[in-house]
Amino acid sequence: MQFLSKYSLKKYHTFGTDVYTKCFTEINSVTQFKDLLQEDIYKNNAILILGGGSNLLFTKNFNGLIVKNNLHGIEIIKQDENHVWVKAAAGENWHQFVLWCVNHNYGGVENLSLIPGCVGASPMQNIGAYGVEIKDVCEQVNAIDVKTGEEKTFSNADCKFGYRESVFKHAYKNKYLIASVVFKLSKKPVFNTSYGAIEQELKAMGVIQLSVKAISDAVINIRSSKLPDPAKIGNAGSFFKNPEVSKQKHDKLKQQYPNLVAYALDNGNYKLAAGWLIEQCGFKGKRFGDAGVHVNQALVLVNYGTASGSEIYNLSQQILDAVKNTYGVTLEREVNIY
Ligand code: EPU
Repeated sequence: MQFLSKYSLKKYHTFGTDVYTKCFTEINSVTQFKDLLQEDIYKNNAILILGGGSNLLFTKNFNGLIVKNNLHGIEIIKQDENHVWVKAAAGENWHQFVLWCVNHNYGGVENLSLIPGCVGASPMQNIGAYGVEIKDVCEQVNAIDVKTGEEKTFSNADCKFGYRESVFKHAYKNKYLIASVVFKLSKKPVFNTSYGAIEQELKAMGVIQLSVKAISDAVINIRSSKLPDPAKIGNAGSFFKNPEVSKQKHDKLKQQYPNLVAYALDNGNYKLAAGWLIEQCGFKGKRFGDAGVHVNQALVLVNYGTASGSEIYNLSQQILDAVKNTYGVTLEREVNIY
């Protein structure tokens, strides 16, 4: 096993800021990870397990050991007339996994096309887009205790999925390495086109017969037109979550700001479009040095080149303060800060 010292993380996280880790290693198998647990360097350092690095911001150098998860493989483990259970290793690129499903005509993850990152992060974040979340298709998460090496299986219920939330971000934060995820996909998919932009895009594409491929293509078109490609402009997708407020708070805001964008939730509360709040505060397309707010989607903070993590973080704080002062709403960061 190779350990690299004072190693640049620039190409390992999608914000692409120039930060270093004290030490870096990669694991290519579960056995290799279990061997790593016995090493002094592992026992004596703070550990961060890294997947695609697409949902984090380093505000300073990392003073510990970064373990890059390189576990690979996609396999069908079970099937019946209607469903197929596919196990994907955590280090698989998420979008490549989606394309594998699309090419096999297995339905369930097509709405989640083009999301940056790896399979292993998908249950952690309960990634979601265009009316679908991982919780809708995740059957099981296979993980390894980072202290004891013990293998543990989490059912969908065990994961305690919520909006961009799971048990792996809270009670089990930094306690498990996610090794693989089992997805229950459909051979006879029911398509989810409820999210307005998808129907519009399908129409523009001239699609008459819905298919897994058509929906995936529509989502790819929408995302490419709105969201910056991390390979070109550093970013981590939505930087903030859409905040949930009470009906009372929503009604008051709506009265004051009739154009407020909000969605009623089953629990009686409302989810506000944080992108709208941020845009109204004048931040959309704003640039402070190389740190900025994306020109097409105010929820996305970007690094135009040489911004530092702390510059991006400070910008996020300015936005938080402005939204709080103007609307009395507290935004929460979706991106993990280190
Ligand atoms: N809006 C604005 N200005 C903006 C952006 C949005 O006014 O700059 C308003 C518009 O009215 C728009 C509405 O907000 O109709 C919703 O915007 P959008 O469809 O872009 O979705 P979002 O709520 O901003 C969420 C997810 C995205 C996901 C999209 C589509 C969160 C935090 N973000 O964004 O997820 O792709 O819905 O489902 O829930 C991510 O998590 O990294 C991510 C990109």
